[in-house]
Amino acid sequence: MTPTWIILGATSTIARAFARLVAERGENLLLAGRDMAELNRTAADCINHGAPSAEAIAFDARDMASFAPILDKATATEGAINVAVFVGSMPTQDEIDGDPALIAGTITDSFTGPAQFLTLLAPLMEDRGKGAVVGVGSVAGDRGRLGNYVYGASKAGFHTYLSGLRNRLGRSGVHVVTVKPGTVDTAMTWGMDGLPFLAQPDKIASDIMRAVDKKKNVIYTPFIWWPVMTVIKSIPEAIFKKLKI
Ligand SMILES: NC(=O)c1ccc[n+]([C@@H]2O[C@H](COP(=O)([O-])OP(=O)(O)OC[C@H]3O[C@@H](n4cnc5c(N)ncnc54)[C@H](OP(=O)(O)O)[C@@H]3O)[C@@H](O)[C@H]2O)c1
Repeated sequence: MTPTWIILGATSTIARAFARLVAERGENLLLAGRDMAELNRTAADCINHGAPSAEAIAFDARDMASFAPILDKATATEGAINVAVFVGSMPTQDEIDGDPALIAGTITDSFTGPAQFLTLLAPLMEDRGKGAVVGVGSVAGDRGRLGNYVYGASKAGFHTYLSGLRNRLGRSGVHVVTVKPGTVDTAMTWGMDGLPFLAQPDKIASDIMRAVDKKKNVIYTPFIWWPVMTVIKSIPEAIFKKLKI
């Protein structure tokens, strides 16, 4: 039976690169997001690259009512169900400081919305007894930095949620991978200057697929971010609070 991948936030630049890898493996796709025209274009690309089926479906992390049709589609499939979460939004810290109401949306997009969806999907994945959950977090979630600590807090919350979900689903044969990208050349970082170790979306997508195949628990991608974040996490708070990094 052919596995199915649910891709949440399938209009993301990284998600589209990942969806193409899924298609090249000959697996089915449910491409979930807000922009149906863009999702339909990605679906056509996936079919052209070998997916037996690729369907666009509406998903808004801020609207739980949008989750049910996706869960119904997943229930109707046969074989393993996999899910990859690419949803996220990153207002600048200045924008948030000027309008703290943005905090709720930032946390919903990157953490609570995806967590609600995964919590609803989890029993079905447990029943199937196989499959993978990919959660895209960020190095920003490893430490609260001056420049983006609300976005970072949303990712830290998501990392902790994924850690617990891994503990739960591992008991039924479902594997959870936490992905911590560094800076990636996508719509989210468009126009930003001087980003260190800027990576291309294809590189992140192939690292994610390798992590799924090798059943990795947590990955930094590109790998250079593992030593970088190991150093950053080890800086004592008394020093870290004075740094602008
Ligand atoms: N780019 C980086 O440097 C970087 C670094 C670390 C982690 N990440 C993470 O990687 C993931 C993918 O981001 P990206 O870099 O590929 O940027 P992107 O192209 O801006 O993708 C963000 C995705 O999130 C979706 N989204 C935002 N709010 C949503 C909502 N309420 N409901 C449904 N979808 C929503 C967007 O949909 P629309 O197209 O409808 O807006 C888009 O598909 C994100 O979780 C991001 O935080 C990125």
